[in-house]
Amino acid sequence: MLDVLPQQLPNVIPTHIAIIMDGNGRWAKARGLPRIAGHRQGAEAVRRSVESCRELGVSYLTLFAFSSENWKRPASEVDDLMGLLRLYLRREIAELAKNDVRLKIIGDRSKLSDDICALIQEGESRTKLNAGLTLTIAISYGAQAEIVNAARLIAAAHKRGDLDLDEIDEGMFSRFLYTESMPDPDLLIRTSGEQRLSNFMLWQSAYAELLFMDVYWPDFDKQSLMKAIDTFNARDRRFGATSGP
Ligand code: FPP
Repeated sequence: MLDVLPQQLPNVIPTHIAIIMDGNGRWAKARGLPRIAGHRQGAEAVRRSVESCRELGVSYLTLFAFSSENWKRPASEVDDLMGLLRLYLRREIAELAKNDVRLKIIGDRSKLSDDICALIQEGESRTKLNAGLTLTIAISYGAQAEIVNAARLIAAAHKRGDLDLDEIDEGMFSRFLYTESMPDPDLLIRTSGEQRLSNFMLWQSAYAELLFMDVYWPDFDKQSLMKAIDTFNARDRRFGATSGP
């Protein structure tokens, strides 16, 4: 009998990866640095992740940058985080536009400053025809509020007579979420070892593979992403069905 080595199948690249970027503060504390230093390195990890996702052929990357609950942090930290977002948008929009990345921001914009809203508008419109990677950044985002907002929009459409009650199903409901027609995440990663969803993409993650990684977000790099993709490939996704005959 021939001793044939099993063929190594290439990894399936998840279409949509969503990440709860956690551990910036602990990364800084472990080095005796202020929390802002962790957030700064976190912003570098964002740049690296966008680059790695482009290289690996990921189509959608969604990052949780600031939750609706993060407004409760001390004002100085909120200012620091908003400053970093402003800086990221100012510096990166041209790069994203050049690199075929489409930028989308989801969340409650009513609490953001006018200049950040203007930068978001600029970034989204300058990149709207790009099709390589869709980078979605969740800012002032909470999944429960997103679902309530969708319910309100649907109720209003029904009240106007634009929508019958029996037209409402899961597919149409999801088109009223901030993520609209985006495919649901296949893989949802949370860094830093915490094992919670913290109000992130609760509807969209119904069938996502969840992966909790023991790495602080500022240290997340291409190796970490490839490790996550390896783990994803070792999972048996059944979407509620059975795995075989
Ligand atoms: C969680 O770490 C991280 C955040 C609340 C902010 C994420 C922000 C960035 C990565 C930087 C800016 C983002 C972009 C898109 C440029 P934590 O502060 O909760 O860490 P801890 O749990 O260790 O204290």
